[in-house]
Amino acid sequence: MGRKPLVAAKWKMHRNLENAEALAREIVDAVKVGDTVDTCICPVHVHLHVVREALRGSEMALGAQNVCDQTGEGAFTGEVSAEMLADAGCRYVIVGHSERRSIYGESDALVAQKFAVAKAAELVPILCVGETEEEREQDKTRTVLSRQIDAVTRLCGAQAFAEAVVAYEPVWAIGTGKSATPEMAQEVHAFLRAKIGEQDGILATHLRLLYGGSVKPENAEALFSQADIDGGLIGGASLEASKFAALCHTADECRA
Ligand code: PGA
Repeated sequence: MGRKPLVAAKWKMHRNLENAEALAREIVDAVKVGDTVDTCICPVHVHLHVVREALRGSEMALGAQNVCDQTGEGAFTGEVSAEMLADAGCRYVIVGHSERRSIYGESDALVAQKFAVAKAAELVPILCVGETEEEREQDKTRTVLSRQIDAVTRLCGAQAFAEAVVAYEPVWAIGTGKSATPEMAQEVHAFLRAKIGEQDGILATHLRLLYGGSVKPENAEALFSQADIDGGLIGGASLEASKFAALCHTADECRA
């Protein structure tokens, strides 16, 4: 397929300035993939600056975990625009993480708007999609994922997925230690690729689809060697440099 894997660390609401910087430096030292795998660290906004300094001179990129849905400057107290994230050195921004959707009530339409502003600022959006346990039990996985993808396609057009990343994160697998089986994840990834392929087959072939949800060194090989899994979005396991490095190295070994 020729898709370069991406392994993204996401630290959630963890760490302070000092140890965020230290962890970023440890990760840079431990990850030895050169440019065969794309890697990035997405800390909380207030840690972006120190992590950027720690990543300077390395191949690892910086990303953010959230972005304001409005562009330009204005009266949006507490928000951070896509332009500001780009100015702070970000290449990636996560949009629509399940915690944003479920805890902060972000709708599909709002997530799509965030995707749009990220693209406009030339950031690479990492669009998270995924079903809850209940939705899976009710056999609604495909319906939910379609709704989440269609909201973006409707607002931005299918072409917006060029230079974007989609992360499939089953909600029941995030932070629970209970990852999807590689077969389950592959089935969903193939569905997502086919869905986007209905609009543009070539674009879909090149689109990077990450898996997220309890990825760890023990299950990474089985996941990353699936045909349609192009890397991972890593929460818990990215808080330890050696584990995150192991995941990056596994992604490198599993390259198609
Ligand atoms: P986890 O987190 O790797 O700890 O399950 C994934 C996520 O929050 O996206």
